[in-house]
Amino acid sequence: MTASTELSEKREVLTSLEPLVEKLMQRHLDERRLWMPSEFLPSSEGITDDQEQYLTDLRERARGLPDPVRVSLALNLLTEEGLPHFHRLIAVHLGHGNAWERWNFLWTAEEDRHGCALHDYVRDTRLFNMEAFEKLQYLYLEAGFDPEWHDDPYQLLAYTSLQERATQAAHANTGKLAANYDPVIQRILGHIAADESRHFRFYRDAFCGLLETDSTRAMQSALKVTPRLAMPGHNIAGYDDMADVVHRAGIYGPRDYRKVVQQCLDSWGIADLVPSDAAGREAQDKLMAVPARLDKLASLIERRMRSKSFSFDFINRRVMEFEIEVA
Ligand SMILES: [Fe+2]
Ligand SMILES: [Fe+2]
Repeated sequence: MTASTELSEKREVLTSLEPLVEKLMQRHLDERRLWMPSEFLPSSEGITDDQEQYLTDLRERARGLPDPVRVSLALNLLTEEGLPHFHRLIAVHLGHGNAWERWNFLWTAEEDRHGCALHDYVRDTRLFNMEAFEKLQYLYLEAGFDPEWHDDPYQLLAYTSLQERATQAAHANTGKLAANYDPVIQRILGHIAADESRHFRFYRDAFCGLLETDSTRAMQSALKVTPRLAMPGHNIAGYDDMADVVHRAGIYGPRDYRKVVQQCLDSWGIADLVPSDAAGREAQDKLMAVPARLDKLASLIERRMRSKSFSFDFINRRVMEFEIEVA
């Protein structure tokens, strides 16, 4: 089969799933409570003295946030600010003038508040060297993001399922740690994580639709993206170090990603599928083996981890030391 025949067949499957998309979108709308960043960070023209005091107190508390938590917030914020990359990918792979596009608009409007809320927080609390952070954000967007999905919309839906679950965990874990210093950032991150959880349910169930309609190819596509989730910006200077700090601080690391993959496989019901052909059985077996591979990889990374110090321009090059005792 030629690549273009395969693509047009996959597009037909996507079209056939539009009633499901409408249903999932309605469920999403019924379950969400739309919130706005200014609910947490008052900034309107008519700001009251009490609200000004709230912001002063907030800034005072945020001063205590340790540098690893700041790095995690920076990474979470950068990920959110990658929204133009993700919006474009969804638009390119899922087409226009259809239910998928209506979902993309709704999803984008919700996601945009995540970057806004976090950006407002780090600015209002004076948490970063903003000039340095803004440069990083600029580079992140300018670098573009074009993963090698070879015109495969199924990979996009597997990727978004994993990505939503992963960002949910990263936000929630950052919030848990930050709560010891400032409850406001935990509330903001809690609301964002709840959004990510609902987004995850949408993509997860849309992917289940693919598995029901075209299971072998859906599993083959999932297999291409699950072993390693490439983030936009992973090639930008300092990005790996930021991820390393977040891992060493116990916020989010390879073990968490393994958990994300396992949750996706479980909720997609991969183990219970009965593929009708050998290619399907092969993809199923390989998919089921991914968590064990990720475990091994996580162990290897942990074994190789050595003491290391880090510093970043956006926190004024203060040095963070992470000691590892080698047995
Ligand atoms: Fe988000
Ligand atoms: Fe999301």
